[in-house]
Amino acid sequence: MPKPRLIELKQSEIGDILLFSDRYRGNELNNLLQKDFVKLYALKCEDQLLGYAVVWFVEKEAQLHWFEIFEPFRGRGLGYTFMGELLSQLRREKIEKVTLEVSEKNTPALRVYKKFGFKRVGMRKNYYPDGSNALLMEITL
Ligand SMILES: CC(C)(COP(=O)(O)OP(=O)(O)OC[C@H]1O[C@@H](n2cnc3c(N)ncnc32)[C@H](O)[C@@H]1OP(=O)(O)O)[C@@H](O)C(=O)NCCC(=O)NCCS
Repeated sequence: MPKPRLIELKQSEIGDILLFSDRYRGNELNNLLQKDFVKLYALKCEDQLLGYAVVWFVEKEAQLHWFEIFEPFRGRGLGYTFMGELLSQLRREKIEKVTLEVSEKNTPALRVYKKFGFKRVGMRKNYYPDGSNALLMEITL
């Protein structure tokens, strides 16, 4: 596979994401992207979208609102590739801190976040519909 690259997607390009991802329904993603502090990044290999991330910006902080590799492409190291490219991009955008929340049961995501140095800074008990706790994590860039 040629080296995947990170791109920023425009609102007009979200059709493929809605096809592949089960995270967003209907106009939810469209509505999010109307906010000028929200950006959508995708990992792409040639013409193939591999995954995407939704990031909220608040001054020098970025909140990773969603981060996904599409199901057929998981388990091949692309989560690591994507996070590496995303953090490099956020550094270029002069972001100083990235925050996120993740289920304590989400092993693949936790592996990615820990590998890049995200630290646990808090917890929300019984946060998700399955009763799992949310871990609040952050990294200083
Ligand atoms: C989280 C996610 C982006 C990781 O991407 P990925 O390409 O599958 O992950 P990678 O192949 O880069 O592997 C990352 C680590 O997770 C592990 N992993 C991957 N799939 C796994 C699975 N089903 N069960 C347990 N561990 C798994 C890998 O072994 C690797 O860990 P290791 O280096 O210690 O061996 C992807 O699983 C995903 O999109 N999940 C659904 C959306 C989601 O939960 N996003 C996070 C929201 S907070």
